[in-house]
Amino acid sequence: MDVTEKKIMIGCDHGGYRIKEIVRKHLTELGYEVEDVGTDSEEIVRYPYYAARVAKAVSRGEIGRGILICSTGIGMSIIANKFPGVRAALCTSTYMGKMTRAHNDTNILCLGGRITGEFEVLDILDIWLNTPYEGGRHEISLGLIREAEREMMTGRLWEGDENQRPEARAGIGG
Ligand code: RB5
Repeated sequence: MDVTEKKIMIGCDHGGYRIKEIVRKHLTELGYEVEDVGTDSEEIVRYPYYAARVAKAVSRGEIGRGILICSTGIGMSIIANKFPGVRAALCTSTYMGKMTRAHNDTNILCLGGRITGEFEVLDILDIWLNTPYEGGRHEISLGLIREAEREMMTGRLWEGDENQRPEARAGIGG
């Protein structure tokens, strides 16, 4: 999936519904093709189902980027990060939105519909959409995350022993 393509998937629970509608409208105005996987009202639903719809598509490479919104953004980020290849970040400031693209190359943005006001949400979204990943030294950390993910998918806990990784200690790690 070419992430420069203006296509994005968006999901929410009841706590994120109001902000999701604002975010969807904004993305459409920016020229994005938005795939909205619900929910479609403030009726109580379970956020892991909606997170899974978006995270699965990102994990499979069917879409480059996604947005998930619940009341706090926390539950969405927890479940989304269980999916291989997903790097989801809860952002409550524009600085976090910028840094999580530049350093973590995140592919899912999580927002707290009852935490962050609508104007701040749109600013966070814009900076997250437009900030490129810096690569370079950050690749070392992302490589370690990929390694941990691979290891733990086989049912083992990743040891993550820094002492066996001189390059990670030598100040060249991100
Ligand atoms: C739902 O009440 C709430 O728990 C959910 O929206 C989310 O904030 C969970 O992390």
